[in-house]
Amino acid sequence: MAVRAFLAVALALSSAGILFATWQSLTTARELGDRALESAARALSASVENALRAGKSEAEVRSILSDRVVAYALIAGADGTIRFHVNRELVGTRLPATGPNSWDRPEHPVGRKVTLGVGTPAYQYDYPLRGPDGSSEMLRIVLHLGAVDRLGAQSRRLWLIVGGVLSLLAAAGLALDRMLTRLVALRDRMDRQERLSLVGQLTATLAHEIRNALWGVKGYAQWLDEKLPAQSPGKADVASILQGTGRIESLVDGLLRYARDEAYRIEAVRLAPLVDEAVSTAASGWAGTLAVDVAETAAAWADREKLLRVLVNGIRNALQAMGGEGRLTITGASTGGTAWIRLEDTGAGFPPEAAAKIFTPFYTTKTDGTGLGLAYSRKVLEGMKGMIQLDNGARGAVLTLRLPRAKDG
Ligand SMILES: Nc1ncnc2c1ncn2[C@@H]1O[C@H](COP(=O)(O)OP(=O)(O)OP(=O)(O)O)[C@@H](O)[C@H]1O
Ligand SMILES: [Mg+2]
Repeated sequence: MAVRAFLAVALALSSAGILFATWQSLTTARELGDRALESAARALSASVENALRAGKSEAEVRSILSDRVVAYALIAGADGTIRFHVNRELVGTRLPATGPNSWDRPEHPVGRKVTLGVGTPAYQYDYPLRGPDGSSEMLRIVLHLGAVDRLGAQSRRLWLIVGGVLSLLAAAGLALDRMLTRLVALRDRMDRQERLSLVGQLTATLAHEIRNALWGVKGYAQWLDEKLPAQSPGKADVASILQGTGRIESLVDGLLRYARDEAYRIEAVRLAPLVDEAVSTAASGWAGTLAVDVAETAAAWADREKLLRVLVNGIRNALQAMGGEGRLTITGASTGGTAWIRLEDTGAGFPPEAAAKIFTPFYTTKTDGTGLGLAYSRKVLEGMKGMIQLDNGARGAVLTLRLPRAKDG
């Protein structure tokens, strides 16, 4: 877990570092580009100014401004009338009073990005001049962005590449993380299964030995019981021995059932007849009220014998929780892909702190219980791809069994 968090933080930090470094170098490149444009415009303006001061011919000014990088250049008078333009046809026209092409009499040179009429971006540099008569004029040089523009396209491409690489890295990290999680879960499950099967084998061997020894004791006690006359004082002792062996026997049987590797005979089992059978096994002669409402057609994919055992234990638990009276409501049906049975009793339920222990082997609150009923139930329900749940309901406890739904019968 700590390694995973460390890797995630390392990945996030290195991604942030790469993004920051990319942003910084692109910003620097853009600034350098802008500065190069300004220097070029300033150099050209100074050359033009010098040529004018030196009284050079218009042709010479034109040759200075004939550089490929110049989109156009003009000199306008104080009223905006163009007295020089690289495009001779525009000489004599006026700059507009407002808008990006207007003339706002700059005191100092001003440079800014503009968009040319054809839609391409350019750099416009307005440079104040003194006219031959001392009046204020403006030299405007508009440069193609050229290399600077390519720099923009390259920076967009760079962002795409960096973003793509980082996304790939993140996707690879996520895939790796998922794979690792699955591997760890698989290893844990295998470890648990290995441990369980070892414990299961030990338990089964031990239980067999105990059962064999028990049969001897039980057989002898039964023989003694038959031999002793009814009024014999030893009769009660023999009865206790038989009761004790009976209890050990049921514990060992339960343990064997819980520990063994189950083989499941899965078939479509109709719930209504199964519930009837469980009720007649576990609740016949009970003095309380029994209400059974199981959909006739509902059926589950299950091992019939195991599901019956689970139901019998559930009904017995409910009756034991209620004593001689109360109400047991059994409902069942199919909903979506699930077939379910619910047992609701009116007993006292169970204390919240017992919730975590109820399904663990040997947890019992009864003097004659083994505490293996619900542990076995969970094992076989999960083995049949179902689930079991015991909750406290409005009055007593609610036991819910869910199984894959079979085609309704
Ligand atoms: N319907 C219920 N209402 C209240 N408590 C319950 C109910 N069902 C189970 N329990 C609690 O869960 C415990 C475990 O039940 P489980 O069926 O596993 O064993 P048990 O009934 O005690 O023993 P055994 O099943 O061998 O007779 C019970 O002892 C009881 O405390
Ligand atoms: Mg029980």
